[in-house]
Amino acid sequence: MSKVMHNIEAKTPKSSDMYSKTGEVLAQEIVDTVTMPYPIYIHSGKGSKLTDVDGNEYIDLVGGFGPHVLGNAPKVVTTALKTAVDKGVQFGLQNPYQEPFARLLVESIPCAEKVIFCNSGTEASMFAIRAARSFTGKTKIAMFEGGFHGAHDYVLAKVVPDSNIDEPDFYSMGQGIPEETQSTVKMLPYLNDKAFDLIRKHADELALVMIEPVQGSNPRLDVADFLTELVKVCKEAGVLCLFDEVITGFRLAFGGAQEFFGLEPDMAIFGKAPGGGLPLGVVAGRADIMEVFTRQFDIYDDVSAGVSHEPSVFTAGTFSGNPLTMAAGKAVVTYMRDHPEIYQSLSKNGTRLAEEVNEFCQREEIPGVMSSALSLFYFRMQPGGTIKSVRDINKYTLKEADDLFCLNLLDRGVIMSPMHIGYISAEHTPEDIDIAINAIKESLLEVRKAGLI
Ligand SMILES: Cc1ncc(COP(=O)(O)O)c(C=O)c1O
Repeated sequence: MSKVMHNIEAKTPKSSDMYSKTGEVLAQEIVDTVTMPYPIYIHSGKGSKLTDVDGNEYIDLVGGFGPHVLGNAPKVVTTALKTAVDKGVQFGLQNPYQEPFARLLVESIPCAEKVIFCNSGTEASMFAIRAARSFTGKTKIAMFEGGFHGAHDYVLAKVVPDSNIDEPDFYSMGQGIPEETQSTVKMLPYLNDKAFDLIRKHADELALVMIEPVQGSNPRLDVADFLTELVKVCKEAGVLCLFDEVITGFRLAFGGAQEFFGLEPDMAIFGKAPGGGLPLGVVAGRADIMEVFTRQFDIYDDVSAGVSHEPSVFTAGTFSGNPLTMAAGKAVVTYMRDHPEIYQSLSKNGTRLAEEVNEFCQREEIPGVMSSALSLFYFRMQPGGTIKSVRDINKYTLKEADDLFCLNLLDRGVIMSPMHIGYISAEHTPEDIDIAINAIKESLLEVRKAGLI
């Protein structure tokens, strides 16, 4: 570990300096790092590359944690932002970008008859759950082990690794979440037909089943049958089905996983890509469900006199629908709609990256697995076994080897998320992919040389 760490430390003194001051005032690790004394601070990004504050350039496999389908700082977005910013960045009141962007999303997303805007995937998840509860009059939500639906209390549920494989238990991730919220969640087993029995069994109390159509923690494309059955079972059981497309939306295909798999859930949430790099959350869905957001709450309702309008589902956000996000979103989604060829290059480059890495690992008998779904991947040091659900992942991952691998990658000018979820963009050229593949291979051999695998 020390030689590669020494190299990185020698190349990144400014990052080290910045980090030394951060803890004095910032109580939060913005993002976890691999085992390093300090994180790398990024100065700028363009296309497929990032440059750190010390001037080192990296091939970017972080992708801004997902939004950068068109790479860093695409011209179409920066131009739209420059035009918008001179007119003012925030009004609170309506602005002329909102309706065209909403219309564009409705035309692009198969299940969307109406949308609402908010500021993150987490907010979208929170509002969607509230809408489903209001619409159905039921309280519980079901979600799948290994899924992630944002950072609010109702969804931070993690599977208990050794619990019943057909009916998993869960716990709330981290402290500060009221225990009461757990009674509102049902955890379902992933890629396991017993999930359908549980949905049927609990249909009377379930408002909503949420699923990442492709899980960020376990990207794969062999899920069409499971998703198809899920949509069908939910419909028959009178439980709403929501696709969390925060990662897959406008990435797996222009119309997201629902277009890719040819399915129409009742609702979907989006974030990341359609914001063009600015903070965005979108709830989309059937018009009758989305109506719960638009019914007006009448402050003059006199309940005692029996005069009452049904209250709408409350949503608010100072920055929801702000001009900059709307301008960037409209520009980026329009571009993606008008350039379908980007999805071919994302698919081709992403697939080749995973195939070549996996072939190498098999040939060299190195316990590494790159799970992938086109331009989205997750790399882990895994000593074998098939990854079906998150339980297999937790069981096998070799943490120390994983860390050394990422450090070696960094030293070779390739930056991957410390969580090892990775994204490529339409700006990644075949040459970028070659460099990434070679760096991955060399880094794996270094890990083997260190005796960790
Ligand atoms: C599938 C999924 N849903 C929801 C979220 C939350 O989105 P945000 O980070 O914008 O709050 C994420 C974030 O990574 C995600 O991957």
